[in-house]
Amino acid sequence: MISIRKIIIYSSSVISCFMFQNYSFLQEELLGENELYRPKIHFTPKNHWMNDPNGMFYLNGTYHLYYQYYPDGNVWGPMHWGHATSEDLISWKEHAIALYPDELGYIFSGSAVVDYHNTSGFGDGTNVPIIAIFTHHDPEGEQKGQINFQTQSIAYSLDEGFTWTKYEGNPVVPNPGIKDFRDPKVVWDTERSHWLMILSTYAETLFYSSKNLKEWNYVSSFGKDFGAHGGVWECPDFFRLTIKSTGETKWVLLQSINPGAPNGGSGTQYFVGDFDGNQFTIDKRFQKQLQSEGAIWVDYGRDNYAGVTWSNIPENDGRRITIAWMSNWDYAREVPTEQWRGSMTIPRELSLTIDDQGDYVLTSIPVEELNSSCEMVEEVTEVANVTQYDISKDKFEATLFFEIELSDLKEDSYVFSWSNNTGDVLKFGLDNKRHAFFVDKTNSGTKDFSKSFYNIVSKHDVKRRHQNIKLTILIDKTSVEIFANDGELVFTEIFFPSAPMTKLAVASKTQFTIHNLKTYKF
Ligand code: FRU
Repeated sequence: MISIRKIIIYSSSVISCFMFQNYSFLQEELLGENELYRPKIHFTPKNHWMNDPNGMFYLNGTYHLYYQYYPDGNVWGPMHWGHATSEDLISWKEHAIALYPDELGYIFSGSAVVDYHNTSGFGDGTNVPIIAIFTHHDPEGEQKGQINFQTQSIAYSLDEGFTWTKYEGNPVVPNPGIKDFRDPKVVWDTERSHWLMILSTYAETLFYSSKNLKEWNYVSSFGKDFGAHGGVWECPDFFRLTIKSTGETKWVLLQSINPGAPNGGSGTQYFVGDFDGNQFTIDKRFQKQLQSEGAIWVDYGRDNYAGVTWSNIPENDGRRITIAWMSNWDYAREVPTEQWRGSMTIPRELSLTIDDQGDYVLTSIPVEELNSSCEMVEEVTEVANVTQYDISKDKFEATLFFEIELSDLKEDSYVFSWSNNTGDVLKFGLDNKRHAFFVDKTNSGTKDFSKSFYNIVSKHDVKRRHQNIKLTILIDKTSVEIFANDGELVFTEIFFPSAPMTKLAVASKTQFTIHNLKTYKF
């Protein structure tokens, strides 16, 4: 069995050398379905290592996704920007590498903007310039023990992101004497008509501004006294969202941190506040939430990291769309995939809402394009008073998407079990006794590849007992993404079963009722 899989992998990588541009078809046919672990509808590079999403922008019907990529091996190495595009955010086509390391160093994480007004001067009068802003990481400087080995640089593209020219004046932001100084996110500040750059240092977010993307002025910093500080701050994002129910507009700062996430390792916290063009200040109500919770997270699972959002989404679409690396630095280098390592989450729409306790919540739900890429298999309006229900009914193999509402919930546990015939089971659900959500991977398959992956149960305590709950859940071979109550609480976790999982059931000791169960397949 194993040797057959290896033969398929080997032959396809040989073919791909000759047919690089066309391999998305090959990936589907030869690899996607034959590799036990490769997800069906999540982006993975055909070969080798991938971590953070980078430089995402939308233009002329195409979503561009770049990513931290090491093309010569399946562990982290000298970083490049890989490149993929999609027209629907679900099916991706991989392209030639966009940015290669150079004499200033590796190409670390960053962002990209569409420079419509040619503020940078890189335009040629015909093609709109796309500007990528990234961190140059000088490995030699790092080895020598210097602290100024990370700087910010830019590159431009005049063919909508396929080929890039690095600016000869790089770096555009020299290192001010800070060891961790990276991951620039650039956004257009519409109120002040200039560019803002947000980047991360060990324990702070720094703000810079610029008229032309080449000359940057330091503006302010934020964060020393707020949120989680159990590790290094990385990969920020900064955008405005309007709360639908109140019409209030707030700035949201995403700030990834590694380690220091609620269930260990890497995670992304967020802050809600106001920005006066110079300083980001925490909203008073949000500050109270921080006082009671310490930090507030985009996702409470272990495998959602370095998520940032697409730039240049048209106004008539208006969504704030994010994607994240579906892994965790605690074990990312050891996960048991061979040909490739690292996958992205499903793209998600972020919204700012106020929950029934009056608190701000940044919700995430899968982009609506997910619904158009699958077909409904079954719809069940109500099943009253059950203690056990078979959701999958042998109709799925390894990948499924479903929505379900549970009501009449008591002080009990409501446990979903996703399993195979070899005894692996992934459990997740609501423990209404302890007011907690959980994902239990203890018996979900291979896990001893890393001590940090071993025997883990991820949990998040919720504020109250639930009488009912609405869940949207996407399972794709080796990942589960759980969106509770319209994305108010999210869990993303990866797992590695020894054979495809096919059976899904929900159970409790006391009776409950199921509503609006919809199952979909791809
Ligand atoms: C986050 C990160 C970034 C850095 C990149 C290097 O996962 O550590 O801070 O730019 O990965 O690959």
